[in-house]
Amino acid sequence: MVTEPTAENASAKMRTRDVNVFYGDKQAIDSVSIDIQTEYVTAFIGPSGCGKSTFLRTLNRMNDTIPAARVEGSIELDGEDIYRSRMDVVQLRARVGMVFQKPNPFPKSIYDNIAYGPKIHGLAESKADLDAIVEKSLRRAGLWDEVKDRLADSGTALSGGQQQRLCIARAIAVQPEVILMDEPCSALDPIATAKIEELIDELRGRYAIVIVTHSMQQAARVSQRTAFFHLGKMVEYGHTSDIFTNPREERTKDYITGRYG
Ligand SMILES: Nc1ncnc2c1ncn2[C@@H]1O[C@H](COP(=O)(O)OP(=O)(O)OP(=O)(O)O)[C@@H](O)[C@H]1O
Ligand SMILES: [Mg+2]
Repeated sequence: MVTEPTAENASAKMRTRDVNVFYGDKQAIDSVSIDIQTEYVTAFIGPSGCGKSTFLRTLNRMNDTIPAARVEGSIELDGEDIYRSRMDVVQLRARVGMVFQKPNPFPKSIYDNIAYGPKIHGLAESKADLDAIVEKSLRRAGLWDEVKDRLADSGTALSGGQQQRLCIARAIAVQPEVILMDEPCSALDPIATAKIEELIDELRGRYAIVIVTHSMQQAARVSQRTAFFHLGKMVEYGHTSDIFTNPREERTKDYITGRYG
């Protein structure tokens, strides 16, 4: 059983220990311990229903929004327990941003999609500040050149791939430390997917990034560390190249060779 965290955890941005998640009586996550680092993109892989999204949601308390969900164990951001009662959850979700499977821009202008978060978090003192944040976020998300002349248009009028980059720009705009992505490319065509993958690579090192993906090729392309989940457990964690070429666990091998999924 290889659920032990690795030794390279001195600089862990997020650290979970023995995390269990239940939906009512049903246990969806069983004793998961992992360190998430800023230096690497971490991929979560595993068959449908194994708990990838459930575990990802524990990292910014998105499971709080599901009444039946109960989380046990320890989850720390910079050494602080994110489930402590004083935690400001709105602030937490700015520090640990999330990008979903289906792009979900607000029904607002492109500009306001980005400006909304910095405004409510008080990150801009003037209109000029806000303009600068909007431009920088869109540039960093690789979308600026495509939208700079139409910032007043609705975010929902963009293509799917552009909408997803808008959502990434929106997450970036509030200066997150961690970005969680749950199958961010599954609704996108190969060209839009390639753009998001390039973007993830550019963002690597600046933010701790976790990506859930069903595409082994994608995990191999964008991540440096991979965690394989099966039936609610994290079966194996390691260097992405090792997981894909030389997995220690039989269940990992079965999955990556397509024996089940
Ligand atoms: N809101 C919920 N209420 C009750 N059970 C849930 C809920 N969300 C997920 N589950 C259950 O928890 C388990 C893990 O689901 P989860 O969505 O985390 O898996 P996943 O690995 O993300 O799957 P997929 O690859 O299909 O997205 C499944 O058995 C699922 O039915
Ligand atoms: Mg999922």
